[in-house]
Amino acid sequence: MHSIPKLVALATTFTTALAAYQGFNYGSTFTTGAPKQESDFEAEFKAAGNLVGAPAGGFHSARLYTTVQGGTANDPISAIPAAIKTKTSLLLGIWASAGDAVFANELQALKSAITKYGSDFASLVAGISVGSEDLYRISPTGIMNKENPGADPATIAGYIKQVRQAIAHTPLANAPIGHVDTWTAWVNGSNHAVVEACDWIGFDAYPYFQSTMANDISNGKSLFDEAFQATQAAVGGKPVWVTETGFPVSGKTVGQAVPSLKNAKAYWNDVGCSLFGTTNVWWYTFQDAAPATPNPSFGVIGSTLTSEPLFDLKCQKDVNVKP
Ligand SMILES: *[C@@H]1O[C@H](CO)[C@@H](O)[C@H](O)[C@H]1NC(C)=O
Repeated sequence: MHSIPKLVALATTFTTALAAYQGFNYGSTFTTGAPKQESDFEAEFKAAGNLVGAPAGGFHSARLYTTVQGGTANDPISAIPAAIKTKTSLLLGIWASAGDAVFANELQALKSAITKYGSDFASLVAGISVGSEDLYRISPTGIMNKENPGADPATIAGYIKQVRQAIAHTPLANAPIGHVDTWTAWVNGSNHAVVEACDWIGFDAYPYFQSTMANDISNGKSLFDEAFQATQAAVGGKPVWVTETGFPVSGKTVGQAVPSLKNAKAYWNDVGCSLFGTTNVWWYTFQDAAPATPNPSFGVIGSTLTSEPLFDLKCQKDVNVKP
């Protein structure tokens, strides 16, 4: 409910008024496992903010998975001061799949960040996600893919309550709290306690991985739309934010889905361009190949940090705008 005035207030602080948040996902480490430092996050946020061919408004929002700086027990993640420097809005993440002691460290890092950065920080916060795909990890598919451990719905709902208590009467008090999971978790009625606890629903969908369905790139948009609509129908009118989606530029074929620059661009055009500017989106992803390229790789840039994308990001709808 309070997310709407918040977004309007935030939008007015930017030179370009955004109707919706538009950004990417940012991990806390490089592919070597080395933690990113403040200068690394700052360089990434700047490169993403200057991305050539980006849709109107550009990419000035970052979704994080953890609030703890890599290599520390519970210091706030250095993406926060980097975001303050670069005026990047933040969808904060609290890691919720590693047990109560790790969750307590996440909560401590959040409290320390509020104390340390105050309203400079609070004014950039789009929301807080308590967990990421924890319910997927305990589902049959998650277990089959050896993604365990996750966390069950009661645990996530309890953690959300703790985060609400932690931010009450602080500059972050109005930050809307949600949870990010795969669409398959949201349409599962056994997870309803989490829906109830959330202000907004973080939706992850990858037609690329939907190998039990006809997932050729030509069906990418229809699979995405079906999943999005099914999620909307399951969450009783709560706002659904697209927290992860994307299509690999390289890597293994899954079912009928073949990674390539051409197919990544097709998915960007069909799905991304239909959402940008109207729905909150954190695309997967800006860079996942520093320094080693994973299989599959979803980055719109390769191993070298740059604002030159691997494929043309211009949305057809922008190209077609008549002067
Ligand atoms: C539905 O959710 C419950 C609780 O998270 C989980 O135990 C179960 O495996 C899920 N079922 C499917 C089909 O994903």
